[in-house]
Amino acid sequence: MNIIVTGGAGFIGSNFIYFELANHPEDRIICLDALTYAGNIASLDSAIQNPQFRFVKGDIADKACINRLFEEEHPDIIINFAAESHVDRSIADPGLFLQTNIIGTQVLMDACKKYGIKRYHQISTDEVYGDLPLNRPDMFFTEDTPIHASSPYSASKAGADLLVLAYHRTFNLPISITRCSNNYGPYHFPEKLIPLMISRAIAGQSLPVYGRGENVRDWLYVQDHCSAVDLVIRKGRIGEVYNIGGHNERTNLEVVEAILSELDKPKSLITFVTDRPGHDLRYAVDPGKISAELGWLPEIKFEEGIKRTVQWYLDNRDWWKNILGGEYQTYYDKRYGNR
Ligand code: NAD
Ligand code: TYD
Repeated sequence: MNIIVTGGAGFIGSNFIYFELANHPEDRIICLDALTYAGNIASLDSAIQNPQFRFVKGDIADKACINRLFEEEHPDIIINFAAESHVDRSIADPGLFLQTNIIGTQVLMDACKKYGIKRYHQISTDEVYGDLPLNRPDMFFTEDTPIHASSPYSASKAGADLLVLAYHRTFNLPISITRCSNNYGPYHFPEKLIPLMISRAIAGQSLPVYGRGENVRDWLYVQDHCSAVDLVIRKGRIGEVYNIGGHNERTNLEVVEAILSELDKPKSLITFVTDRPGHDLRYAVDPGKISAELGWLPEIKFEEGIKRTVQWYLDNRDWWKNILGGEYQTYYDKRYGNR
């Protein structure tokens, strides 16, 4: 099969490409990525050595570029990871989130309609459901929980999901959607909680925890997300939404303390800072549907995953130091510009 992965130079997309190349060597993977500030071609250095892999620099909202790619590659499946993904940036500048996350999704689906596709898969997020109260540990997001987004980021992802479902109903486009909880692991851009705290703790810098650090996230090791998406694109029912999560709920303070403990750094690095506006209190996913229908189960518990992640950041300092220093933004032209 020919599989287009958009946003494959980002955190989850790059992990997914390595997962697919390792587990389905018969498939060809074409990565389309605009290399925004969040995309790092260095994350795909090993994939680029693989003859089954092709990288294309381009914007999912650029119709001419997408149509050209469909004409060249005749994809069987397209998986849309490309997005503006950081809540704090969406609060500072919502417009780009609507352009990439909603218009980009529409352009991709229009190409699927025009050229035909076996499956269009949308990578969504549990954040489309809004948040849950801190004092109701019995409550979880199911696929039937109403959409109730809080931030411009989650509203743009929710808008895209509604559009994907509408293209299925109106045009019979063969779609599926997965909504996953917070991921962590290798190649995670150091502006998000876990990689930010690891890189700052290694440098002995203060760790900015929003509010009182009581907000809860449901953390999934990125490879468990990849295995779930892989199952859904191959065996999931067309037209369906599947939630993905591993029941690893932690307060932000617990997460930061776990990182400090792995690195043997003092808790005095923690600094409580002004809270994020509209800050979602708690996310917690019920993954019952994907487990019952497709037999998916997460393999990595939080304690193991955070150890592996801290070790990866210790072993790959150049990867994140180049990001913090900005060098990664010129890396593509230097390394691949003449290809
Ligand atoms: P990321 O920000 O690390 O990567 C996004 C990638 O998309 C980057 O490589 C970027 O260059 C690319 N991109 C951005 N705009 C583009 C455009 N217009 N055209 C082509 N490429 C573009 O994001 P991530 O954390 O890997 O998230 C991937 C997907 O998973 C997103 O759709 C996100 O909403 C979803 N998601 C993320 C999490 C999480 O915890 N990170 C959880 C659930 C769902
Ligand atoms: P983040 O990694 O941005 O993911 P999301 O907002 O999509 O869940 O943030 C995870 C949690 O960590 C969230 O509750 C906000 C909090 N946070 C901090 O306390 N300090 C920080 O510097 C960042 C980036 C996040």
